[in-house]
Amino acid sequence: MIDPIRPDPLPGLTPVLLGPQELPGWRIENPHCRALISTQGAQVLSFQTGTEPPLLWLSEQAVYAPGKAIRGGIPLCFPWFGPHPDDHSKPAHGFARNRPWQLTQATQGATGHRLVFALRADAATLALWPHAFLAELMIELGRELQLTLTVHNTGPQPFTFTHAFHSYFPVAAIEHACVDGLDGSQCIDQLALARTPTPHHGPVRCQGETDRIYVGAGGRYRIKAPPGGGIRIGAPGCHSAIVWNPGQAKTARLGDMAADAWRGMICVECGNVESDTVTVAAGASAACGLTVAAGSP
Ligand code: BG6
Repeated sequence: MIDPIRPDPLPGLTPVLLGPQELPGWRIENPHCRALISTQGAQVLSFQTGTEPPLLWLSEQAVYAPGKAIRGGIPLCFPWFGPHPDDHSKPAHGFARNRPWQLTQATQGATGHRLVFALRADAATLALWPHAFLAELMIELGRELQLTLTVHNTGPQPFTFTHAFHSYFPVAAIEHACVDGLDGSQCIDQLALARTPTPHHGPVRCQGETDRIYVGAGGRYRIKAPPGGGIRIGAPGCHSAIVWNPGQAKTARLGDMAADAWRGMICVECGNVESDTVTVAAGASAACGLTVAAGSP
């Protein structure tokens, strides 16, 4: 049994309440960075080092409510990405981003803070996904932001899942932004009628609504044209990437983004989706990570 830690256990780690419904979260401040994390979803909402601009985008109209996904930062899609494959009445992108996680470890050292959040199967998750599991998200907050997701199969049968770190990043102007590092992957355009993967080469740009999955991706990307000098992304163990921008019309339908906010953000999501599923044997674990840092590779 994992026991939640007591509030306010460390210097630089302060409990906060988010929005009028007072969703619990944590503010982190250390010599390297400042960050905000929501306990719901173990979702990093903001991360900023020194005098650099913020490395994550968070909607000014994000809704902080129990059970509702927060628009921005790094929501975690698990144990399925996108609509449920068989039952569209189940929540999009799984349930992990909508559930309260427990902060189970918090330490601070010369390189910054390290927090571990846990989510384990209960009656509500079993009703949506019939598998016993423990998911642990380690969040390291220093000069870089590092996330490590470990999924333990605590049941008697193997299970298969898809997942993504659904990261939102700021860009100065979406029409001038591009994502490097997806050469050689296979692209599935989610807005096209056919879901046939086609080989991808060159930088990815968003012209209007964009929703593309890249499978067989290398796990090292760079976003050009954010407010600062660039954003580096590393994703060990993640073989897929998704590039998403809602464009004008879809933004108007979402309800938690300002009308023109799509011009200033891009999602570059790292995970394992489509043909890149993850299978975990009974008693075994699977891990993958995400690193976000400012600057050139
Ligand atoms: C992306 C999907 O990952 O998330 C899109 O590829 C989806 O299809 C987008 O619209 C946002 O999803 P949600 O559930 O957070 O509105």
